[in-house]
Amino acid sequence: MRFGAAVLRSYESRFAVEDVILNAGPDDGEILVKIAGCGVCRTDLAVRRSAGRSPLPAVLGHEGAGVVVETGGPDTGLGVGDHVVLSFDSCGHCRNCLGAAPAYCDSFASLNLFEGRKENAARFTDAAGGGLAPRWFGQSSFAEYAMVPARNAVRVDPSLPIELLGPLGCGFLTGAGAAFHSFGVGPGDTLAVFGAGAVGLAAVMAATAAGAVTVAVDRHPERLALAERLGAIPLSAASADLPDRVRRLTDGGAQYALDTTGVAQLINDALRALRPTGHLALVARLHTALPLEPGALDRGRKISHLCEGDAVPGLLIPRLIGLWQAGRFPFDQLIRTYPLADINEAERDCETGRVVKPVLVPEGRGG
Ligand SMILES: NC(=O)c1ccc[n+]([C@@H]2O[C@H](COP(=O)([O-])OP(=O)(O)OC[C@H]3O[C@@H](n4cnc5c(N)ncnc54)[C@H](O)[C@@H]3O)[C@@H](O)[C@H]2O)c1
Ligand SMILES: [Zn+2]
Ligand SMILES: [Zn+2]
Repeated sequence: MRFGAAVLRSYESRFAVEDVILNAGPDDGEILVKIAGCGVCRTDLAVRRSAGRSPLPAVLGHEGAGVVVETGGPDTGLGVGDHVVLSFDSCGHCRNCLGAAPAYCDSFASLNLFEGRKENAARFTDAAGGGLAPRWFGQSSFAEYAMVPARNAVRVDPSLPIELLGPLGCGFLTGAGAAFHSFGVGPGDTLAVFGAGAVGLAAVMAATAAGAVTVAVDRHPERLALAERLGAIPLSAASADLPDRVRRLTDGGAQYALDTTGVAQLINDALRALRPTGHLALVARLHTALPLEPGALDRGRKISHLCEGDAVPGLLIPRLIGLWQAGRFPFDQLIRTYPLADINEAERDCETGRVVKPVLVPEGRGG
């Protein structure tokens, strides 16, 4: 079948929406999904800086949501017409998958980051027959359709605005999962978020919903204003004595801190803002060694790197939808929709910080 998709042909080029071809229907355990909307995650854009590790040309996009139009075999647990939110892929049978930690699947890299995916290239091509790297995070959803392992898909109520739900599969899942699962925040806890973007603000919303006090640090005044509306105490990253300021706002130090910036200086500031036994979690990929100050981890402090908010998507996504319906996780306030054809504008707005979470809607192709 032939359909439109945004293809990235080189690390420097703009995305080009063009016709692509899937040469076979779903295999056993797979579903074909008509994409209603796909969020743009910073991890999609980071492919440009992946120093050649990601094979191109490729179709990116890993926050897709849409409607099942075909199923492969009887065992997908899904039917044609089901509305689904797509998330990351996992094998389902390694130790971490069995232990309800699918984000730490032994096969995470090969299933989600293209490595080892070349065997599918003949199945997914451009209009001239050239192979495309498929199934980025099991999906490749910057497209009108995506072929997905059913294991990645979470069925949702068809009355929901499906075109907006894709970011619940990665960015919002990661921030909310950090608050709920990695930290287990509760009433009266304190959380400082460094970087109030899609992941950081999801953590603010989730921690606020759980009754915690949150501080949000960023360099963009609009991001700080948004964080304040979502329940956080805003704090400019340019403040003098940033760790002291956070400690004062959190009664002697934050119990939890989440860094979404990957900036070494801010990571060290976040550590200095922790109370004894505090936990700092990182989500951004680090591109250089991380120098820690002497004593940074003294007195029971700890630091970890999280993947996908330690979440089981099939459990956390319905929970976030329930909170949203109750007005306690207003993720839609962070979204701006764009026709898929405007993907380059969406990327620019994401890079400049103008929009927190662009969502690409394929229906607008060519419009
Ligand atoms: N580990 C995971 O599972 C996972 C999942 C999703 C995203 N990510 C990664 O998490 C990171 C954050 O993603 P996001 O979608 O929230 O990005 P984002 O761009 O929406 O948010 C980052 C925020 O950090 C702020 N920031 C950056 N540098 C700063 C600095 N020097 N001083 C002050 N503020 C600064 C920006 O203004 C922005 O608001 C990315 O690196 C992304 O690739 C990881
Ligand atoms: Zn696994
Ligand atoms: Zn992502």
